[in-house]
Amino acid sequence: MTVLRPHAEDQYAEELAVLAKTDDRSRPPGWRLSPWAVTTYILGDGDQISPKYIGPRRVVEVAVATLATDRALLLLGVPGTAKTWLSEHLAAAISGDSTLLVQGTAGTAEEAVRYGWNYARLLAEGPSREALTPSPVMRAMAEGRLARIEELTRMPSDVQDALITVLSEKTMPVPELATEVQATRGFNVIATANDRDRGVNELSSALRRRFNTVVLPVPATEDEEVDIVSRRVTQLGRALELPETTTAMEEIRRVVTVFRELRSGATTDGRATVKSPSGTLSTAEAISVLTSGIALAAHFGDGVLRPADVAAGIVGAVIQDPVSDRVIWNEYLETVVRERPEWRDFYRACRDA
Ligand SMILES: Nc1ncnc2c1ncn2[C@@H]1O[C@H](COP(=O)(O)OP(=O)(O)OP(=O)(O)O)[C@@H](O)[C@H]1O
Ligand SMILES: [Mg+2]
Repeated sequence: MTVLRPHAEDQYAEELAVLAKTDDRSRPPGWRLSPWAVTTYILGDGDQISPKYIGPRRVVEVAVATLATDRALLLLGVPGTAKTWLSEHLAAAISGDSTLLVQGTAGTAEEAVRYGWNYARLLAEGPSREALTPSPVMRAMAEGRLARIEELTRMPSDVQDALITVLSEKTMPVPELATEVQATRGFNVIATANDRDRGVNELSSALRRRFNTVVLPVPATEDEEVDIVSRRVTQLGRALELPETTTAMEEIRRVVTVFRELRSGATTDGRATVKSPSGTLSTAEAISVLTSGIALAAHFGDGVLRPADVAAGIVGAVIQDPVSDRVIWNEYLETVVRERPEWRDFYRACRDA
C-alpha cells in the first residue's frame, strides 16, 4: 500500500543518504548530518539534491545554527510561508525523524507536551514506567531527536509553560515516579507560530527567551514566488499522479500576479492602488488554486491549463467574506483585469465564475 503523503525522511531518503555519505564536516552530537549538509539538503545543490525551501540562504543558516546550540528555534511568519514545511525538513535532515510532533490548539492538554498514563495499567499496577505514555517531546528527549511543536501560540499558556523546564533544565520531572527523563544529546525543539495569531495566546516572555526567532519572509519578488509555486505544483501533480498537463507558466504567473497585487494593495506597475481582501492569499493558496486547476484541466478539459480552470479557485480564495470581499474583487476585476488586453480570456472566465 502506498501512503498518501510520505514523511520527508522517507520521501527524500536517497538524497539524505547521498549527503550522509559525502558529508565530511563535523556533526553536532546526535545529528545525522553536519549543519552545512543540512543546509544543502534544504536549499538544494543544483544537482542531486533538490531544493525544498526557496528563500534566503541566511535564514536557513541561522535556523540550522540555532538548533546546534542549546536554544530552541521558533519559526515565525504569516500563513503560507513554509514554516511547517521547513520544520519538517529540518527534523528529517537533522534527526532522521520528522514525526515527533505536537499540534498546538486551544484544546492541547499538558499531556501532549509532558506525558500521560495508560489507565488500564495504571489501575492494575499503580504508577510505573510501563504505565506511562510519553509525549512526542519526552520521546525526543530520550532519543536525542528534534521535537516539533506546531502553532505554539495557539496552545493555552499553562501548556506552553510546561516547556520552560524542558528547554532550560533539559529535563522532564515525573513526580509520580519520583524520577525524571533527561534530554540526551541531539534533542532540541522547533516550534512554529503564525504572525496573525499574535495575541491569541501571547508567548510568555519566559518562554520567548528560550527561543531564537527566525522570521520566514514572504517571497520578495514575483519571479521568486512564481518559482516556488511552479516547483511545488509540479511536485504535487506528480505525487497525486495527475495526468500531464501542458506546462502552465503563463497561468501560474497570472495567479501569482493577482495574489501579489491584492495582497500588496497596488498593481505591479505601481500605477494603481487596489483594495486588499480579508483572506491571506498566501503562496500556499496560490499553489492549491493551481493544483485544483490542473486537476480540472486534466480530467475535464483537454489537458491544457486554461483561465477557466483557475478562475473558480481564485474567486474562492479571494472572496472569504461574501459581502466586502466581493465588492473588492469586482472592483479589481473591472478596473485592473479588464484593462489588460492579454488577460481577455481570464477576465471573461472570472466574470463567469
Ligand atoms: N519559500 C517557499 N519554498 C518552498 N515552498 C514553499 C515556500 N513558501 C510556501 N511554500 C509551500 O507552501 C505550502 C504551505 O506551507 P506551510 O504549510 O509550511 O506554511 P505555514 O507557514 O506553516 O502556514 P500556516 O501558518 O498556515 O501554518 C507548502 O507546500 C510549501 O511547500
Ligand atoms: Mg503551518
